Amino acid sequence: MSSAAPLDRPAPTSPLYTSRNHTMTTSTLPDTRTSTALHMDDVLLTFPDGDSRVTAVDHVSLRIDRGHSLAVTGPSGSGKSSLLAVAATLTRPESGHVWLTTPDGEVDLATVSRPRAAELRRAEIGIVFQQSNLLDSLTAREQLESMAWLGSRPSRTRRRETRRRADELLDVVGLGSAADRSVGALSGGQRQRIAVARALMGSPSLLLADEPTSALDSEAGAAVMDLLLGTAAEFDVALMLVTHDPAVAARCDSMVRLVDGAMV
Ligand SMILES: Nc1ncnc2c1ncn2[C@@H]1O[C@H](COP(=O)(O)OP(=O)(O)OP(=O)(O)O)[C@@H](O)[C@H]1O
Ligand SMILES: [Mg+2]
Repeated sequence: MSSAAPLDRPAPTSPLYTSRNHTMTTSTLPDTRTSTALHMDDVLLTFPDGDSRVTAVDHVSLRIDRGHSLAVTGPSGSGKSSLLAVAATLTRPESGHVWLTTPDGEVDLATVSRPRAAELRRAEIGIVFQQSNLLDSLTAREQLESMAWLGSRPSRTRRRETRRRADELLDVVGLGSAADRSVGALSGGQRQRIAVARALMGSPSLLLADEPTSALDSEAGAAVMDLLLGTAAEFDVALMLVTHDPAVAARCDSMVRLVDGAMV
């Protein structure tokens, strides 16, 4: 059964997304409206291209519930990263809405102010890129703690809480024993698992991952996928996963395919 549920606003005419491997039915959810983490509605994004413009995201509508994973697939240049960047507040769409459900209600990421977007990226949206983008000189624990220090001067209590959460998450990703090692000394797979832990520091409702396993060998890639899918289910996070790999996409609850920016 699809997790696409009736919306409290007019539904787009296109199908939201195809559902695969679904075990959870909407009836098991307390309230399908509040369980929707992300609802992209008719999103359009274009970039200048010489005298004309290239359409990177072509009127895409989709929705992801908390605890569910959605794979975004499609050929190179089809708009996968652009779509993810819109959901991440890193790129503003030309039109359409990007509703994120937060503890304060729904926020339209398409129109949110820059400071609020930065706040949301700290608290509600976790992002994992293809390269883990870690600071090699920091230890694994410091890498996670530094997320919580951004934009605030932490009190001693807050520092203690942050440290506890960092250690907890390092355990979750199987790297508790590496807390004091500098990340420069870790393998690609281990670094990517730390990047996942870092993305979870703010207890986000939405986790966005852009080809997080493509730089890893198949074993390390599978471990990172296990972690991402396990995290989505256990931490009740909505996961949007961009991938070229059909085997990776098949492990997600649902998938969409983009061609020339449009869902097909
Ligand atoms: N910052 C930008 N400026 C101009 N054009 C861009 C920009 N970012 C993306 N594009 C264009 O938008 C289209 C979609 O690009 P995007 O990177 O989203 O594709 P993708 O599906 O992620 O590709 P890949 O699988 O190679 O990562 C492409 O035509 C690309 O050239
Ligand atoms: Mg890309």
